[in-house]
Amino acid sequence: MEIKKVFIAGAGLMGSGIAQVCAQAGLEVILCDVGPEVLEKASKNIAWSAGKLIEKGKTAGPLEAVMGRIATTTDYGRASEADLCLEAAFEKLEVKKDIFARLDAVARPEALLASNTSAISISTLAAGTKRPEMVLGLHFFSPAPMMEAVEVVRGQFTGDEVFEAGRRFVLQIGKEPILVHKDVPGFLINRINFPAALEAMRLVEMGVAGIEDVDKGLRLASGRKMGIFETGDLVGLDVTHGALLAIYEETKDPRWYPPAVLRRRVQAGWLGRKTGRGWYEYGPDGTRLGPTKA
Ligand SMILES: NC(=O)c1ccc[n+]([C@@H]2O[C@H](COP(=O)([O-])OP(=O)(O)OC[C@H]3O[C@@H](n4cnc5c(N)ncnc54)[C@H](O)[C@@H]3O)[C@@H](O)[C@H]2O)c1
Repeated sequence: MEIKKVFIAGAGLMGSGIAQVCAQAGLEVILCDVGPEVLEKASKNIAWSAGKLIEKGKTAGPLEAVMGRIATTTDYGRASEADLCLEAAFEKLEVKKDIFARLDAVARPEALLASNTSAISISTLAAGTKRPEMVLGLHFFSPAPMMEAVEVVRGQFTGDEVFEAGRRFVLQIGKEPILVHKDVPGFLINRINFPAALEAMRLVEMGVAGIEDVDKGLRLASGRKMGIFETGDLVGLDVTHGALLAIYEETKDPRWYPPAVLRRRVQAGWLGRKTGRGWYEYGPDGTRLGPTKA
């Protein structure tokens, strides 16, 4: 199962980052989203980020060669060209199920089908296809071009060879595979990190501390590069909200239910850096202005 061409469904923060990583590693990429504007924005972001990495000598150029390996499309039919189809769309079960059905209809029988979901069950997505043994989780972290680990998640039906092919693919693109042998809600790293994030949100909700002090404390006392709320704004509050809801739906354990401080911001469309407002408010040039209140 050698991977030479990757079809990526979803060209947002993660899909575009993963496309960049694959193209930098010499793979051909077909990046798919719902409309040309999103794809144009994704191409611009990739060119900017890959350009910076080439300038710093962190990846091989020229930029034209990297960009030349990325084709963009709105046509799912092109998934038939790929050895690996990777879904990186909204963290919503219905959206992902629909994408998996489309991929299943056109992908080659030997192609791997993967999801970059943060918390939706890989087994549930696999069960909706006619080839559940070909489905696995490949969970990248944000920003994909910088973060070195990728979780390789074995769903209930994932074949041994498919799991191994996923591990080899992660090495092929220059990342470190983290093997997750069971499809538990939140997989491994989110499963460990989310309880801390939830506790931070609840402490803010209770008025025990402000957002800035929580982040400052975590940076200065816990050796983190970024605080929980700073990271949350990069990830996207909708993404965290969707992932927590997915874990809650799966477990029905109320400790995973998104706290009101998060729900209110998502309802207001305050989704983090991408909307200029989330846990913090940002100026037009991306400068952080101060915490938001909701
Ligand atoms: N943001 C993070 O830090 C992060 C980290 C790891 C995993 N993830 C997961 O990655 C996935 C994507 O997250 P993101 O942050 O890139 O979200 P995003 O909102 O930046 O991008 C999602 C993209 O999916 C596109 N899309 C929606 N429906 C589609 C369809 N039917 N076909 C093709 N494209 C479609 C949207 O137009 C959008 O461009 C989610 O499942 C999320 O949980 C996110």
